[in-house]
Amino acid sequence: MIFSPLTFKHGPDMPNRFMLAPLTNSQSHDDGVLSDEEYHWLMMRAEGGYGLTMTCAAHVIDWGQGFPGQLGCFDDRQDEGLSKLARGINKAGAVSSVQLYHGGIRCPETLTGRKPQSASSDQETEAQAMSEEVILEVIEAFIKGAERAERCGFHGIELHGAHGYLICQFLSPETNRRTDAWGGSLANRSQFLMQIIDGIRQRTGPDFQVGVRLSPERFGVPLGEAIELYETLIQQDQLDYIDMSLWDVFKTPAGSSDKRSLLEIFGALPRQQTRLGVAGKISTVADVNRCLELGADFAIQGRSAILHHDFPKRAESNPEFAPSSLPVTAAHLATEGLSETFIQYMRNWPGFVED
Ligand SMILES: Cc1cc2nc3c(=O)[nH]c(=O)nc-3n(C[C@H](O)[C@H](O)[C@H](O)COP(=O)(O)O)c2cc1C
Repeated sequence: MIFSPLTFKHGPDMPNRFMLAPLTNSQSHDDGVLSDEEYHWLMMRAEGGYGLTMTCAAHVIDWGQGFPGQLGCFDDRQDEGLSKLARGINKAGAVSSVQLYHGGIRCPETLTGRKPQSASSDQETEAQAMSEEVILEVIEAFIKGAERAERCGFHGIELHGAHGYLICQFLSPETNRRTDAWGGSLANRSQFLMQIIDGIRQRTGPDFQVGVRLSPERFGVPLGEAIELYETLIQQDQLDYIDMSLWDVFKTPAGSSDKRSLLEIFGALPRQQTRLGVAGKISTVADVNRCLELGADFAIQGRSAILHHDFPKRAESNPEFAPSSLPVTAAHLATEGLSETFIQYMRNWPGFVED
C-alpha cells in the first residue's frame, strides 16, 4: 500500500504515500529568491523518493514574511528559482507543490519594516486589525501566489492554514474577534480561507492541485470547529487533499472525552475523493503503515526527512528501516544536504543537533 500510487481529483498521481512536510529552512536569499542550497536540499528529497515534495512556507506578499531567509512567491524575480525547482522536482517523478503562507501577527517588523496586521489587533505584537481593503489585498496575493506557482511549473499549492499563522488567525475565535462579515460565526471566520480557495480554483487550470493544511487543536482552534471546517471543505469539493498537522499522529485530543487518536478521528470522517495526509512523529515504516490503516491516504514526514533524504527509498528496500536517533551531528546533517544556515536553524529544535 505504501508504494502504491495515489490519485487526486486534479493533477498527477503521487507515486507513493510519502510527502515531504513543508519545512522552513532559512536558506533563501533576503529577497525571497531560492538559493542553490535550498534547491539542493529539496532535490535530494524529491530524488530520495518523496512522492509529493513540498516547499517550505513561502510568503505571498512582502509584508507577510515570518522568518529570515524565507522563500517568496510574489515577485517576478523569484520566478527563475521557482521554475528551476519545479522542473527539478517534476523530473524526479514527484508531485511538486509550494506551501503558500502569510504570517499575520507573526511577521516581525524587523523583517518587514511595518507593523504586523491580522484579523484583529494584538497588544503583544502591536498588530493592527486589517481593513476590508487589506483583507481583499491579501486574498488576492494568495491567489496570485497560486497563479505564479502554476506558471512556474508546479503541480499545485498547499495553503498554510495551520499553526497560528494568518489563515489560522482568521479561523480562530481567539485571534479573530471581528464583528463584521469576516468574524463571528465559524462560517464568517472561514470566509478568508474560502475566498482564497474559490479564487484559486477560478484562476488556475483544471489540473492544478490544491491542498490545505489545518491544525486540529491548539493555536486557538477548538477540535469541534476543526472537524466542522474539515467537513465543510469536503462538502465544497474543491480541494485535492487536506493535510492535518497533528504534531503526533497517535496522540489523543487534549481536553476531549474522545479516546480515539486525532488520526482516527479525522481518518474516520467521510471524505469522498478528497485525500487526507497526516503529519507528526511518523518515523518508522510501521508508523506509515499504521497511518494508512487508521484512515490516512498519505504520510507526511518532517524531521525524519531532514535526517534521511531518501527515507522512502530506504523504506522500500528495508521495511525495518528506522531513522538515526537524536541528537545527530552537524556533519550528518551536512551529508543529508543541509547547509550550515539550515543546520544552525535546526539548533533551535531542542535535542536535534549535537554540538
Ligand atoms: C525545522 C522545521 C520547520 C518547519 N516549517 C514548517 C513550515 O514551513 N510550514 C508548516 O506548515 N510546518 C512546518 N513545520 C512543521 C512540519 O511540517 C511537520 O508538520 C512537523 O515537524 C511534524 O512532523 P515531524 O514530527 O515528522 O517532524 C516545520 C517543522 C520543522 C521541524
